[in-house]
Amino acid sequence: MWPNDQFIKLCGIELPIIQAPMAGSALSDMVVAVSEAGGLGSLSCALLSVEQARGELETIRQRTSRPINANFFCHQPPRDEPAPQMDWRRRLNAYYVQLQIDDKISVATSARTPFDDKMCDLVAEFHPEVVSFHFGLPNKNLLHRVRSAGAKILSTATSVDEARWLEDQGCDAIIAQGFEAGGHRGMFLADDVFTQVGTMALVPQVVDAVKVPVIAAGGIADARGIVAAFALGAAAAQIGTAYLRCPEAKISPFHRQALKDTRDNQTAITNVFTGRPARAIVNRLMREVGPMSDVAPEFPLAAAALAPLRTKSEMAGSADFTPLWSGQAARLGRELPAAKLTKQLAAEASEKLNQLQAAP
Ligand SMILES: Cc1cc2nc3c(=O)[nH]c(=O)nc-3n(C[C@H](O)[C@H](O)[C@H](O)COP(=O)(O)O)c2cc1C
Repeated sequence: MWPNDQFIKLCGIELPIIQAPMAGSALSDMVVAVSEAGGLGSLSCALLSVEQARGELETIRQRTSRPINANFFCHQPPRDEPAPQMDWRRRLNAYYVQLQIDDKISVATSARTPFDDKMCDLVAEFHPEVVSFHFGLPNKNLLHRVRSAGAKILSTATSVDEARWLEDQGCDAIIAQGFEAGGHRGMFLADDVFTQVGTMALVPQVVDAVKVPVIAAGGIADARGIVAAFALGAAAAQIGTAYLRCPEAKISPFHRQALKDTRDNQTAITNVFTGRPARAIVNRLMREVGPMSDVAPEFPLAAAALAPLRTKSEMAGSADFTPLWSGQAARLGRELPAAKLTKQLAAEASEKLNQLQAAP
């Protein structure tokens, strides 16, 4: 039925749709809904403690026996250098003064930790059918343990070089993440954000370069995008921003409203929220300090000094310091429960493919 069934066969799913892992925004409710609908639900563990991740995985396994994806960040931990963090704190000082935040307030360290032995123990315990990584891959020992747990291994590429590297390390499928994508760029062999490639150009070049199935990601939010992904040679679509409109998404009312109101040209790539390039709806912090700042410290350290600003301004009803993660196609999203959205996207894409095949 689908023009390319390599990925659905690889993972044992029915529909070629992956609900993108979205740190902090998509937890067990979303994962269960999408997997039960026949797609691949994804749990990002990037912002969860080991205990929180265990709780989510337990809930998911109780509520569905369908395949799921557990997702992890595998960035290099930042160097322990206080100077860049002090520079960043100084850069934000005017906002601390304006919002009357105590100078001496203790700033929590950021929660984002890379995939490690403890998270790997969870993989061995819960046997997710798919494990996907962002920012490269973990070390060979950890990767070997993931493979031994029976998981298919996926990771994100933002260039042909990254895709080839991931295939050489043994990835079973590669997510080609175009520039349109919401959230963090998965880039790991390069750091120049201005040379990042759009989905339309990236997917076919990655398809030509590797033998494993390729999943298109970035700016896909309706059936037209899914059909286009197949036309470009992809075997599935990974969709993030469109799922943020679902009631299952764990996002603030600010974020929900911003996604509803935003237009095609109101997002930008920024490093001011975490220290790593990511796409979000432009707000005050991005406009005044970024969108790319030389002062932002290494990922994920930039988030720490922002936390008090975010809390105080949100209490006052403002999203000036809140990361409003979004891809460029937010406007194409629909407010539907995740299971319904998954089935509707698949049905509409299938209908469009049939129409195209039947066209004289
Ligand atoms: C709110 C949000 C959080 C994200 N968090 C993660 C994550 O934890 N792990 C990951 O691999 N990708 C993450 N991504 C990137 C997605 O996997 C995917 O590449 C992207 O959503 C696709 O583009 P789209 O948002 O235009 O659909 C995130 C994206 C968004 C919008």
